[in-house]
Amino acid sequence: MPAHPTTEAYDTTGAGPSPTPPRAARPGAAAAPGGTARPDDTAAPDETAAVDTPDEAVGPLMRGVAVLRGLTEAGGTLSPSALERATGLARSTVDRITATLARMGYVRLDGRDVVLAPRLMELGNAYLSALRLPSLLAARADALADELDESVSLAVGDRDGIRFIHQATRRRAMSLSFRIGDLLPAERTAPGPLFATEWTDEDWQAWRERRTADPDDRNFPAVPPRKPSPAHPADDFERRTARAAREGWAMDDQLIEPGLVAVSAPVRHPATGRIVCVANVVSHTSRHSAQSLRTVLLPRLRETVAAMERDLRDTPHPPPQAPSPTDLATWTTASKQELGRDFIESLARGLTVLTAFGEDRPELTLTEAAAATGLTRATARRALITYEHLGLVRRTPATRAFALTPRVLSLGFPPLSRTTLPRIAQPHLEDLASRVHESASLAILTASGEEIQYTAVATTGRIMSVNIAVGTRLPSRRTALGKVLLATPEEPLPYALMDEELEEGLRTLAVPIHDRTGHPVAAANLAMHAAAHTHDECLTTLLPALRTAATALETDLHTASHFTHVPLS
Ligand code: PHB
Repeated sequence: MPAHPTTEAYDTTGAGPSPTPPRAARPGAAAAPGGTARPDDTAAPDETAAVDTPDEAVGPLMRGVAVLRGLTEAGGTLSPSALERATGLARSTVDRITATLARMGYVRLDGRDVVLAPRLMELGNAYLSALRLPSLLAARADALADELDESVSLAVGDRDGIRFIHQATRRRAMSLSFRIGDLLPAERTAPGPLFATEWTDEDWQAWRERRTADPDDRNFPAVPPRKPSPAHPADDFERRTARAAREGWAMDDQLIEPGLVAVSAPVRHPATGRIVCVANVVSHTSRHSAQSLRTVLLPRLRETVAAMERDLRDTPHPPPQAPSPTDLATWTTASKQELGRDFIESLARGLTVLTAFGEDRPELTLTEAAAATGLTRATARRALITYEHLGLVRRTPATRAFALTPRVLSLGFPPLSRTTLPRIAQPHLEDLASRVHESASLAILTASGEEIQYTAVATTGRIMSVNIAVGTRLPSRRTALGKVLLATPEEPLPYALMDEELEEGLRTLAVPIHDRTGHPVAAANLAMHAAAHTHDECLTTLLPALRTAATALETDLHTASHFTHVPLS
């Protein structure tokens, strides 16, 4: 095993100890295509440029990534024909890719649509876990948002853009709010000039080329198109960057849209002094002027940033873990046998390589990536070369090991990070209802605990099926749903079976749904006419089916809520 850097997982640049770009000084710095040495080896060419694709790149993996990005940019749902248009791929290719992604649990086929599924968030989770910044700093960002009653976010630099890794959002009528994983053009944001203080000449050149190629920011779907503004001439960004370098903070005075203002301060690596992320307070001109951002919000932001930097200094990194081998090879072989031509093994295997990274494995050598996935070195190597080409992984100059880049968040994270428990539950309830031919529902306890409220419902085609509308409230003590939700940690209840007192002939079976900490946050049930199933049948046939559905739902909830808040209703 190589020497893992023990303090640099969240050094997003992977650069050495100097706070200025040590381009020529560091031996072993990778040469980008074209021979321009960059300090941090992030110069993988954009996949939109068809040139320079390495021979070893895995075509099906590149096409699978293109499908995931197409779906992400469309907000999470597209028909196969819209996917054909979005990616330029043939229909048969789109169909095989979506069948493979569906088998992996990364998309769902919902009627005629292809829909991103919560499990896909495991890719972004791998990046955010390896980065460690959200788990170390999110609580301080959230506390600042509470204290100021303004939105607070954390962003990392992503080439000439910025990408959000945390959002503590105050929902307000009057502004955009960005999602974790959204990419913004650096020059239209407050954190952008701070990151640009560390840009190399090549970075500035890439930025200029992008501005020329995409003057309206069409390639940044998260922001409204740029409008020409005499207030913000093209050279404004260089001036703002010079000012950010002098002052150590930066501002966004309505660069994205009228009314939206933000102030930002950099969080620096305790050892290298380089910017690991930027903390932002976001407000509206109805509450704060540029002047009051500086005088009122900036001092509080700076206190929080100082505390964040102390946390980074004082929190040791977990020791790297030897990867535990998986049975991926068995799984993909079985899937191939079952689905035949419709299952693209190289895509499935390649995608799994991204999930091998994590908090205790922020960097992987080729050997480790192979061990962690159960793939051969040759297969892992080709997947990593493909990802490096797509800008999804980079090599750390010091160790030559691979690490994920913020761009991994472009694989589904922004739309999926806005999900809710009822939306996560719906396909599981429908699947369950169609298996057992009884109505399935999800409910939560109301604040008083006196009532339950239905939050998602799936009915069956039966004439006599139980049909309760979303939003319905019932007394919790008289329902199986309520009983499992009122159970205490001292007396937990794995299930409840009740002949409902509410309505004669109604029988219901409920199990709790737990959050990541094991706390029951909702309950799922099956409701039927008592004549349809005896008590015994309920326990021997329906309960296992309900449990299987509940476990699948919980798994999705845990994946989705790793780094985002998932509302329960
Ligand atoms: C945000 O977090 O929504 C945000 C941050 C910085 C900006 C604009 C918006 O410049």
